[in-house]
Amino acid sequence: MERLQKVIANSGYTSRRKAEELITSGKVKVNGKIVKELGTKVKNSDTIEVGNDIIDNNKNYEYYILNKPRSIISSTEDEHGRKTVVDLIDTNQRIYPIGRLDYDTTGIIILTNDGNLANKLMHPSSNIEKTYIAKVEGLVNNNEIKKLREGVLIEGKKTAKAKVHLKKYDKKTDKSLVEITIHEGKNHQIKKMFQAINHEVVKLKREKYANLDLRGLKSGMYRKLTNKEVAILYSLIK
Ligand code: URA
Repeated sequence: MERLQKVIANSGYTSRRKAEELITSGKVKVNGKIVKELGTKVKNSDTIEVGNDIIDNNKNYEYYILNKPRSIISSTEDEHGRKTVVDLIDTNQRIYPIGRLDYDTTGIIILTNDGNLANKLMHPSSNIEKTYIAKVEGLVNNNEIKKLREGVLIEGKKTAKAKVHLKKYDKKTDKSLVEITIHEGKNHQIKKMFQAINHEVVKLKREKYANLDLRGLKSGMYRKLTNKEVAILYSLIK
């Protein structure tokens, strides 16, 4: 048994908020009867109608991994008409990205219409590991690496422990490549962490998200997750 508004939203028909509006305004029928009560529980065998549409509550969820290029927005639509990660994926389902990458950040982003999984993965308590490669100005010295590992202050709060390795320093360009794994998801977290040690990030790529990496996916390419990969993501939020 699930709440009616959740079943409608999870079906990809509309957002949770709009589903609630549809219910309270009397547009939703369960087994032929109008239901205006938010929180009404429904089961898979119930027939749910919104106006003339039948809601598919046994739907097949879709899960994608995308290698996001630069200059793409991580949301479902953009008020300035810029291309979004959703535009890159050929589907009729109402999918959306799990979390965000900045406009200029590249790499792994997962998209789905499974609201339950998405919400749980995005929740701060989910502790999902994300690995980034950051190209930053200057040489990041051992002391600074240690600071990043132990936590730095961003907006007055210390970041959690992170795994951090200097992969390369290019003397000619005076830039460092740093691999950094975090399990939080504060806004612009990686850029702010480097800001805290006075190194500006000039390029940022997310190379890993939980059990997933970019193997075989060139920039702009995507594929469906396998059932096994989805099952692993589910196992991480239990
Ligand atoms: N941290 C950032 O600063 N930007 C991203 O896009 C992701 C993590």
